[in-house]
Amino acid sequence: MIKVTIDNVTVETEEGTTILQAARKIGGKIIPPAMCYYSKLKGSGGKCRTCLVKVSQSSTKDPRPMPKLVASCSTPVQDGMVVQNLTSPEVIEARKGIVEFLLINHPLDCPVCDQAGECDLQDLSFGFGMAETATEEERREFPVIDIGDYIKLHMNRCILCYRCVYVADQLTDKRLHGVLYRGDVTEISTFISKGIENDFSGNMIDVCPVGALTDKTFRFKSRVWFLKPMNVHRDCPKCSGKAVAWMFGNEIYRITARKDKYGEVEDFICNECRFDKKNPADWVIEGPRHIIRQSVISANHYEKEEKPSVIKPIEGTMEKQK
Ligand code: SF4
Ligand code: FES
Repeated sequence: MIKVTIDNVTVETEEGTTILQAARKIGGKIIPPAMCYYSKLKGSGGKCRTCLVKVSQSSTKDPRPMPKLVASCSTPVQDGMVVQNLTSPEVIEARKGIVEFLLINHPLDCPVCDQAGECDLQDLSFGFGMAETATEEERREFPVIDIGDYIKLHMNRCILCYRCVYVADQLTDKRLHGVLYRGDVTEISTFISKGIENDFSGNMIDVCPVGALTDKTFRFKSRVWFLKPMNVHRDCPKCSGKAVAWMFGNEIYRITARKDKYGEVEDFICNECRFDKKNPADWVIEGPRHIIRQSVISANHYEKEEKPSVIKPIEGTMEKQK
């Protein structure tokens, strides 16, 4: 085991752990935000830069700081490493810059976007976004297209995190979509507009951190905060059958996979469970689901907050985090 200190809190962790995973062991606000890293998807991370942190001491053996901010999702810890996340004004500034960069082409259409209320970019903008944009150039625009019977792709909202590509690669037999072209014309696309009909393709919707991939069976039906998330399960031959039913009265409006406190899917579910089982009689209803992560859905559920991490703020760096 090796020791690493993040925002003045020391934690013991195994060798090979990344800074982000070590921060998740501590918990609370010390955890850097992650828009592309997904612990369940191999190869994810290193694309969005939202998880940048400052390494002010590389290790006990080499106490020099790292020359630049590093991506915490892909930088392994070393014994005696000292990391700054929210305690570094440089990190806060960089994160503001990253959010501005991610929002350059991302439309501010939260009022009509189905992801509103559970969008990582929305949360990130709340914490680190600027009120105004510094650019006035025309924005990149793509048509909204159907990919398959169940998924709508709204490419204008995509932040090119590649998570959906990894889902298609790692959960389905045949990947039919990917990232095409380079630069500001880069897009997620299906090869010759083929639909994605694989049994596990719906998981792309769950891993998408923004509203680029949405569920066609749920689009515009309701805002997520009007619905009651319920833990449900069924005997499914294809997947674990453990899901969340988003209910309004006795009606199921949508089915999603269960997500943990980092917003990551616990068990990927099949398309049959997700899209075809909208009758409450199809499911055994276990009870209300508690949404633990920061989300408007968890508002008014007066639960005890997770063990708060002790962060000693440096003046002027944490106003937005309070
Ligand atoms: S569509 Fe969503 S999951 Fe796929 S790359 Fe874009 S933002 Fe990421
Ligand atoms: S989460 Fe680390 S670069 Fe995206």
